[in-house]
Amino acid sequence: MQIQENFSLRELNSFGIEATAKYFASFAEVEDLEDLLSAVQLSSIVNQQMLVLGGGSNILLTRNFDGWVLKNEILGIQELHEDDAYVYVKVGAGENWHSFVQYSIDNGWAGLENLSLIPGNVGASPMQNIGAYGVDLRDVFWDLEAYHLQDKMVHTFTEEDCEFGYRESVFKNKYKGQFVILNVTFRLHKKPVFHTSYGAISEELQKMGIKELSIRAISQAVINIRRSKLPDPAQVGNAGSFFKNPTVTREYFEELKLEYPEIVGYSLPGDQVKLAAGWMIEKCGWKGWRKGDAGCHEKQALVLVNYGEAKGSEIYSLSQEIIESVEFRFGVILEREVNII
Ligand code: FAD
Ligand code: EPU
Repeated sequence: MQIQENFSLRELNSFGIEATAKYFASFAEVEDLEDLLSAVQLSSIVNQQMLVLGGGSNILLTRNFDGWVLKNEILGIQELHEDDAYVYVKVGAGENWHSFVQYSIDNGWAGLENLSLIPGNVGASPMQNIGAYGVDLRDVFWDLEAYHLQDKMVHTFTEEDCEFGYRESVFKNKYKGQFVILNVTFRLHKKPVFHTSYGAISEELQKMGIKELSIRAISQAVINIRRSKLPDPAQVGNAGSFFKNPTVTREYFEELKLEYPEIVGYSLPGDQVKLAAGWMIEKCGWKGWRKGDAGCHEKQALVLVNYGEAKGSEIYSLSQEIIESVEFRFGVILEREVNII
């Protein structure tokens, strides 16, 4: 176990923000984690702030972290068992998400293809119930094991226990900071159920000249669409959508529509409508906006970017200005999706 002091996190967050961790260590097994936690408790000089880090693709570091950053590097992919319809696969939290998606496709296991190319690690996937192109993590989730930092026990969470919602779970709200997710078990289809109705998937499949649908073709279509509009963190720092798409009543949506006939919204059950935050932000004039190295992506206004040397606090201030202008113009308050540290 190696503990490093005043450790730079720049390479470990997809925004590429320069910030340090007072103490940094990684763990590859639950026993390493327990050793680390003893070290944290025995140390008299630290306050007990702790951040569990995966791939760092959904955080904004707004300051140096005056505590412990523990990087989860638990690996392993294990096929547990199968029945007529499904295969159950347990995956270590430190496995890269997209590599696992590719591994499942190689094995002919279906269900993850629409979630291709989402950055980050498997352990963070339940945190906000990652979703894209008509599929949420919840659709393929079976259960997970998580270590409780106070009672020091490993707990199992079923889908119901996780209380998944749109970009939400118990780990992001009521149990925030209490559990370290160790592994996730997925229930994947042996026979694929294709989801091609969302967004531009069908159009992209056609463009690709696909005659026979397959999970690999869908995965490639999703990859192509994502590459066409989302910035690659290796080129431009970002954490994907910075805000959630907000929900309003149908009545309010109709009111907005009178003034903005082209407003983008998707019907939800219970007379609710989900608004496209990216459309509203663009309408407020932010798309492609840049001040210093902090900006709003030129192809997707929902994504805030660091062109190089932006500070986390500058990105945060920009997000605040965007929230205020969207509220002023549309009467809707945007909520940040990215975890602010
Ligand atoms: P991190 O950023 O390391 O951590 C995120 C949060 O989870 C932090 O609060 C951290 O403390 C906590 N955490 C991480 N691992 C653990 C663990 N093992 N136990 C307990 N807590 C933990 N998200 C989507 O849902 N859909 C998308 O389409 C999407 N597209 C994206 C596109 C781009 C270009 C980028 C940069 C991001 C995108 N995201 C998307 C966001 C991001 O990829 C996901 O939220 C991803 O799951 C984050 O994983 P991570 O390992 O990087 O998490
Ligand atoms: N739009 C604009 N201007 C913009 C951006 C979007 O008008 O600058 C419009 C688009 O034209 C479209 C609508 O808004 O009509 C929705 O845009 P898009 O399909 O790009 O999706 P999104 O709602 O902006 C969400 C997720 C993404 C996910 C995609 C695909 C959230 C917060 N974001 O984005 O997730 O990949 O759908 O399913 O729900 C992430 O969470 O980090 C993320 C990238």
